Amino acid sequence: MKAIVYDGLQKVDCRKVDDPKLEKTDDIIVKVTSTAICGSDLHLVHGMVKGMYDGFVMGHETMGIVEEIGKDVTKVKKGDRVIIPFPVACGHCCFCEHEEYSQCDNSNENGEAGGLFGYSKSYGNYQGGQAEYIRVPYANVGPMVVPDELTDEQVLFLTDILPTSYWGTEIANVQKGDTVVVLGCGPVGLLTIKWCMLKGASRIIAVDRVGYRLQHAKDYGIEVVNFEEYDETGAYLKELTSGGADVVIDCVGLDGKMSVVEKVELLSILILFWQK
Ligand SMILES: NC(=O)c1ccc[n+]([C@@H]2O[C@H](COP(=O)([O-])OP(=O)(O)OC[C@H]3O[C@@H](n4cnc5c(N)ncnc54)[C@H](O)[C@@H]3O)[C@@H](O)[C@H]2O)c1
Ligand SMILES: [Zn+2]
Ligand SMILES: [Zn+2]
Repeated sequence: MKAIVYDGLQKVDCRKVDDPKLEKTDDIIVKVTSTAICGSDLHLVHGMVKGMYDGFVMGHETMGIVEEIGKDVTKVKKGDRVIIPFPVACGHCCFCEHEEYSQCDNSNENGEAGGLFGYSKSYGNYQGGQAEYIRVPYANVGPMVVPDELTDEQVLFLTDILPTSYWGTEIANVQKGDTVVVLGCGPVGLLTIKWCMLKGASRIIAVDRVGYRLQHAKDYGIEVVNFEEYDETGAYLKELTSGGADVVIDCVGLDGKMSVVEKVELLSILILFWQK
């Protein structure tokens, strides 16, 4: 089959790889109909996650049609149309029983966190879904059948960024009437804005520096700030909100652009750490 693979630092390639096969009795093979690229894939390509190797199939936002099933699979059947949430989870460890699937104790023998599709050896070495086919282990846990009347685009983002953005607004406790600052207007930031609107936030201010992303946020009818236009964006936001927002949600993540002041602060922390 053809797949998108990691091809060394800063490089990805589309090439032929071996078709996935059933390995355990509760595995399924899914023929992929839609898949997406997540901001987290950039961390892999930028070398920020250990355990990537040439030829590793990327992708953890995937859906498709069940093509083959292991003999112990009961949750789905051949021909079902399913979404595949990004965590690989056993379904019966302590974490899974508390619905903390991304911390599964059994799906990743290479680290503390649970396994993730398409996310390096360090997260269980599960080949990803930016491919024609994907093997899905623990198929009685993760995959969910979706109604035919919904299009792929309507359900695909349930595999990652839609629940991720929702969870951000839950743990930030966004309430009706709140003023919310959303940092980053990538897919996660834009969906976070929509959840904040649904939850009744009265004022939302989105921050980024990429013109078309800020425009996208502006089209939702909210305020936007291009952080490159200010020396001290934090101070400007404080002024704009008369003393600070009720909630600030970080939708930027690992490789955010830092100001000169932040770079100096980070450097001094590293020097202190090094001196110890
Ligand atoms: N479940 C999860 O844990 C989960 C799921 C999905 C994404 N993520 C993480 O969420 C983050 C966002 O995902 P995405 O797909 O929207 O990524 P993305 O890279 O498309 O978007 C990030 C945005 O942040 C902007 N940005 C950079 N520095 C900034 C700064 N200092 N202030 C404000 N904006 C800044 C960038 O210009 C970009 O538009 C990523 O770090 C990703 O790894 C986590
Ligand atoms: Zn992701
Ligand atoms: Zn588990």
